[in-house]
Amino acid sequence: MVNYKDLGLVNTREMFAKAIDGGYAIPAFNFNNMEQLQAIIKACAETKSPVILQVSSGARKYANQTLLRYMAEGAVEYAKELGWEHPQICLHLDHGDTFELCKSCVDFGFSSVMIDGSSLPYEENIALTKKVVEYAHQFDVTVEAELGVLAGVEDDVVAEESHYTKPEEVIDFATRSGCDSLAISIGTSHGAYKFKPEQCTRDPQTGRLVPPPLAFDVLAEIEKKLPGFPIVLHGSSSVPQEYVDIINTYGGNMPDAVGVPEEQLRKASKSAVCKINIDSDSRLAFTAAVRKVLAEKPGEFDPRKYCGPARDEMVKLYKHKIIEVLGSDGKAE
Ligand code: 13P
Repeated sequence: MVNYKDLGLVNTREMFAKAIDGGYAIPAFNFNNMEQLQAIIKACAETKSPVILQVSSGARKYANQTLLRYMAEGAVEYAKELGWEHPQICLHLDHGDTFELCKSCVDFGFSSVMIDGSSLPYEENIALTKKVVEYAHQFDVTVEAELGVLAGVEDDVVAEESHYTKPEEVIDFATRSGCDSLAISIGTSHGAYKFKPEQCTRDPQTGRLVPPPLAFDVLAEIEKKLPGFPIVLHGSSSVPQEYVDIINTYGGNMPDAVGVPEEQLRKASKSAVCKINIDSDSRLAFTAAVRKVLAEKPGEFDPRKYCGPARDEMVKLYKHKIIEVLGSDGKAE
């Protein structure tokens, strides 16, 4: 048993309370490898932004759960080395699907876990979430739950159709499950193809897809029912078109990749939405940079020569999200 407090990590409780009061959102960035983790910590240290490091089931399979935990532990020390005196770093399990998995993360130093029972019948979702909450709270680990279904593909999580969260259920769900934050569905979705062409219009000038707006009316109703309660948005990559263009220019093929426009995320950040999940954008930044280097220098074979530029590009991306979209810079001095 390792408690996250001994690793210098923090849970989400205070982060979220401050974010709601201050009208900004905490970045929740997924990481799978060293370069992503370095880029996240560098961006957060340079902007003094609190951060949630997320580990998905795909990341655990790819990199190994134990290694990821030690990497996150190292991240706290790395942040201090970079001159961030009081790093506020939360280590979070993304999309936990069983009690056992959540328990093992709590036992091994995670400071926050998500139990995603959103595909279960309502009462089963409550029962499973409650069981995780009862265990996690003994160790002051915070718990995110999900109500409503997001469409899209994320590692092993696939859903064809989205179902918006029903505002009339949120009070009952939050009260009976005891969760600390609630992921809701208002039109975001996982992956780089968030909207089908038939859901969008097309910009006549650029030919690019213009996605439909998020359901801010549903968000407003949820906020009214649960004032001050931390709300989470998954699937919030904006799929920057400059990265899609670079990828397509250098041999890739990503037609009609489209995300959530940043101005909508900016608006959401000012509401009770206090955690915004971003994974795909970092994958795009990484892939764009690697493709460009390998295409321009076909003789290159040292991974540091293409992973290094990819890491620099991710630092730029994360800082942009923190400063220009979420507004979390300077909130963890
Ligand atoms: P994106 O695929 O939009 O980056 O969403 C990531 C996410 O929600 C992780 O849980």
